[in-house]
Amino acid sequence: MGNNSHLSITEMRKRKFAYQIGKDILPAGNGAVADSYFETYSGNRSYEDIFQTAFNAKYLLHLIKAVWGAVPPYKLLDCGSANGLTIGQFDKLGVEAWGIENSAYIHSKTPHAWRKRNRLGDVRKMPFKNGSFDFIYETCLPYLPEENIDQAIKELFRVCRAGIVFQGTTTDMTEEVIEDYELFAGLQTFWTISEWSDAFVRNGFQLAAFNSALLDEIWRIEQEADPDDWDWYPDKETMRYCFFSKPQIGPSP
Ligand SMILES: C[S@@+](CC[C@H](N)C(=O)[O-])C[C@H]1O[C@@H](n2cnc3c(N)ncnc32)[C@H](O)[C@@H]1O
Repeated sequence: MGNNSHLSITEMRKRKFAYQIGKDILPAGNGAVADSYFETYSGNRSYEDIFQTAFNAKYLLHLIKAVWGAVPPYKLLDCGSANGLTIGQFDKLGVEAWGIENSAYIHSKTPHAWRKRNRLGDVRKMPFKNGSFDFIYETCLPYLPEENIDQAIKELFRVCRAGIVFQGTTTDMTEEVIEDYELFAGLQTFWTISEWSDAFVRNGFQLAAFNSALLDEIWRIEQEADPDDWDWYPDKETMRYCFFSKPQIGPSP
């Protein structure tokens, strides 16, 4: 067995999960993942099949409340919104949610009720006005090539009013979730969560969760969301890098 001690965590994980890399990436596509990505979203089960058990809108609302003190009604963008099923879940909780999704395949399955709000488009150039959304729930950035990440984050900054919850796949998520959910399938940018944080900060966002009582609360929400599931993040410190605020420009005091 080789000595891996000199390798970064990203390199170690890329070697360990090499069998997932390249899966669901179209050789010369428009940047969208392959249709197969949604058909084998979790093992052999499709995105629609596992949606009810995998997506938890209440958990996201609890995180937003803990970090920003905000409760619905507010406007939220699901960035990488697939067939828009998340919009219905948010709606039940009083959140006016919109979506942006670049796979025509999954987007075409959007239920009639959410077609107006689930837009076919790309995070790199979105059809929304500046400051359209109080919050953004972001899951799509790691599917972009590295050279497009800054452009995409600038676009997120433009449409955001208050803050962003970043839940894209990172290379330092726990091995169990990377393995179990094949999180590296379809991915083009392989970064640790602190590398993602650097990208958000260099494009104007600020870290939103810095005190330890808040991190404790975030970790409690994370643990309670699905006690039977694997941990997604290795520890509470890591979750500090999931929340970013847009600095508010106001009149000087
Ligand atoms: C991990 S899935 C999350 C789906 C949904 N947000 C949820 O939480 O259930 C990520 C989604 O991002 C979409 N996506 C990938 N690249 C994108 C891009 N450049 N612009 C918009 N959406 C993109 C994928 O097609 C996929 O539907």
